[in-house]
Amino acid sequence: MAPASTGAVHRLGPLDEIPVGEARTYAVGDAQIAVFRLRGDVLRAIDAVCPHAGGPLADGQADAEVVICPLHSHVFNLATGESSSGAPPIGCHPVRLAADGRIELTL
Ligand code: FES
Repeated sequence: MAPASTGAVHRLGPLDEIPVGEARTYAVGDAQIAVFRLRGDVLRAIDAVCPHAGGPLADGQADAEVVICPLHSHVFNLATGESSSGAPPIGCHPVRLAADGRIELTL
């Protein structure tokens, strides 16, 4: 489930450390957040741990809209967190690229 939002802005690493089409997991407080860098440098941030059985969602196959968990292939929408395959929803979090090229996550 999504951690309670406090609205705090967390500065993560530089965008350059995530190849286009891939994701990286960041520890933010007690939360593990997967940040995906999509084409056009669109960013999406979701809970990194699959609610089905703990799979690492940052290692899943992603396109512009969804990520597929690498363990049992549940599908999650990167913008809404809803699962189209019957898993519980995951949290989605506001994320943006700052002017200095670093990723800023609101949690
Ligand atoms: S752990 Fe993600 S689908 Fe099973």
